[in-house]
Amino acid sequence: VESVIVAIDGPSGTGKSSTSKAVAAKLGLSYLDTGAQYRAITWWMISNGVDVTDAEAVANAASKPVIVSGTDPGRPTITVDGADAAGPIRTEEVTSKVSAVSAVPEVRSLITELQRSIARSAEHGIVVEGRDIGTTVLPDADLKIFLTASPEARAARRSGELKGADVQATKEALVKRDAADSSRKTSPLAKAGDAVEVDTTDLTLDQVIECVVTLVDEKR
Ligand code: C5P
Repeated sequence: VESVIVAIDGPSGTGKSSTSKAVAAKLGLSYLDTGAQYRAITWWMISNGVDVTDAEAVANAASKPVIVSGTDPGRPTITVDGADAAGPIRTEEVTSKVSAVSAVPEVRSLITELQRSIARSAEHGIVVEGRDIGTTVLPDADLKIFLTASPEARAARRSGELKGADVQATKEALVKRDAADSSRKTSPLAKAGDAVEVDTTDLTLDQVIECVVTLVDEKR
């Protein structure tokens, strides 16, 4: 395969983003962070006064924001209606509300189409990370990876990223978000039948990257 499509799914704190960016950069592929897109639409809903617990209101507004993702793994970008959203999509408010917005079927179908068109236009192939990439967005991906890690390891990594955040509170928020993402009706977080599962609990980031690069090389 000249142009390779890699799907990397898993819950939060498993190292999906760091791994996906590094693998894409090493192999000269594009990179797409689909969580950033769900965060971006959530940020737009909050900024525009849409009650995110009202699924009908969210569905009615879903097609309004224009979300654009830059796919260079060395410098991924995201804009909403032309405004840089990279900072605002990482706030605690967005993180706590994104699962409700991303569970709305109209939101998922719009974002899924956007993801497919980005993947199609990636000339040299792409690494796409998310929750439902292998199962729903790109079921024909050349390689599907499902990253896991113990809740303790995931919370510790997230707390490290958030510089000193309370590990216990982080763990509770993370477990709650994963439960919501795994139990929703439309394309829940799930391992595809043909995905390779990699438990990252006792691996360093470099080991995970090396493991995925090896798996991609076997496909090309
Ligand atoms: O990966 P990240 O933590 O940024 O994802 C934020 C949220 O976006 C997830 O908790 C989930 O609700 C949603 N998401 C999704 N499907 C994806 C990627 C993310 O529903 N493919």
